[in-house]
Amino acid sequence: MAAALRIDVVSIFPDYLAPLDLSLVGRARTDGLLDVRVHDLRDFTHDRHRTVDDAPYGGGAGMVMKPEPWAEALGHVVATRDASTPGGPRLVVPGPGGAPFTQARARELAAEPWLAFACGRYEGIDERVYDYAREDLGLPVSVVSLGDYVLCGGEVAVLAIVEAVARLVPGVVGNAESLLEESHEDGLLEYPLYTRPRQWRGRLVPDVLLSGDHAAIAGWRHQQRMTRTAALRPDLLHPSAVDGRVELGVATAGDLPELLTVLHARGRPTSSESLRAGLATGTTWLARRAGRLLGAVRLQEDGGTLRVAAPVLVPDLADDPVADDSLAGQLLQVAERTAVSGIRELVVDDPRPSPGRARTYRRAGYHRRDGRWVRPLVLHEARRDPAAIG
Ligand code: ADE
Repeated sequence: MAAALRIDVVSIFPDYLAPLDLSLVGRARTDGLLDVRVHDLRDFTHDRHRTVDDAPYGGGAGMVMKPEPWAEALGHVVATRDASTPGGPRLVVPGPGGAPFTQARARELAAEPWLAFACGRYEGIDERVYDYAREDLGLPVSVVSLGDYVLCGGEVAVLAIVEAVARLVPGVVGNAESLLEESHEDGLLEYPLYTRPRQWRGRLVPDVLLSGDHAAIAGWRHQQRMTRTAALRPDLLHPSAVDGRVELGVATAGDLPELLTVLHARGRPTSSESLRAGLATGTTWLARRAGRLLGAVRLQEDGGTLRVAAPVLVPDLADDPVADDSLAGQLLQVAERTAVSGIRELVVDDPRPSPGRARTYRRAGYHRRDGRWVRPLVLHEARRDPAAIG
């Protein structure tokens, strides 16, 4: 049976990739889930010194990787395509000048049947190699960066990227559920974890985790994730995909015509009378940028429940999963922030959300219950036991 993902790595230090034999990736290789092949770039040189670099045209410090060995190496990789990988690989070139490597990109790469990594060294690879790969070999090319710092070469980045990608390949991680609940999978940092003993050096496990109340635990964990993300990575809560400042405000009668148009365009036609009546019985929040309406959410209190209508966005944003996630997420945050103290849970009525929207609800702390999305509002604090001595 063909492996779920084939990975070729070209490097002048093939030994650097030896850790790909270990741990999760190593086991996935033995299990036949990953087909990893490492190539030595110097095998594609033809001079006595196996030269792979030369001085840069135009001057400057350092050396540049020559195009010829790269063309041969990539040609060799492509020529080994087989029935399970009939197209060419996606070529991934790690480098500090690339697009940020994120969990979303890991997911994208994990969905490919074949990845080829080109590990640059020195100052980088002759630019024409990228054009050659795209134009002559017909490969999609992505340059990706691990972060805003400079490594000595792409090998360490490949180890990191392959590990992040491999664990998303079905079957590689035994417990698929553990993939869902972790940092970055839905754009938030992870909640704190505890195991036995319950009391350790004067520190107690938060009571809520011992309560057996699953909704309360989910609520506490979400709260922890939001607090941590706000403190350590506030950028994650305001993704730049929706650029420019989004202003949130409560709708008034003057907003009705625009709101009607958006609802109509999104397949939720309503009359101006029922919208007007809705303004009197609940609150409708609008998101605008530079005056332009982007989306809306309607909230209505019902005993201890705040009923939240599925956020509606203008068509071009709703069609863009990243923008939809960002804006719908911001509108759900408004719902959470404006919930008065008697509210115990938020309920979104959206029985058949798109996969992207379902992810947004989960990311906002909602879980599915009877065809609705429910978000309990509970706050428990971790506490120290003053009587316990460390
Ligand atoms: N190669 C050199 N620096 C790098 C970085 N920051 N990310 C990925 N690959 C690199």
